[in-house]
Amino acid sequence: MNGVFGRKAGAVEGYRYSTALLNSAVVWSDETLDAFLSGPSKMLRGTRMTTSVLSEADRADILAYLKTLPAR
Ligand code: HEM
Repeated sequence: MNGVFGRKAGAVEGYRYSTALLNSAVVWSDETLDAFLSGPSKMLRGTRMTTSVLSEADRADILAYLKTLPAR
């Protein structure tokens, strides 16, 4: 997740993503991360991430935490 903000989805070298992530044009931002976390497969059909975070407050906390991570 380091440096996730502003990065294209499915772009970390060496990770084997689903074709859903590889073929998407999503760039990770507050809006796209919030949508993905609230329902990964609703946003990107075919993604292998199945965990949803249903609480809006929890998603806000997670995004705030992700912003504390070093760029890479
Ligand atoms: C708060 C916790 C989590 C956050 C913030 C998060 C966020 C993300 C993001 C942003 C991606 C896309 C990565 C990229 O484009 O480089 C991703 C992918 C993925 N996540 Fe999560 N995730 C979380 C929890 C989980 C959990 C608990 C699991 C599994 C039990 C999981 C499994 C995956 C998988 C398998 C992918 C790859 C999806 C694919 O290739 O289709 N994630 N996650």
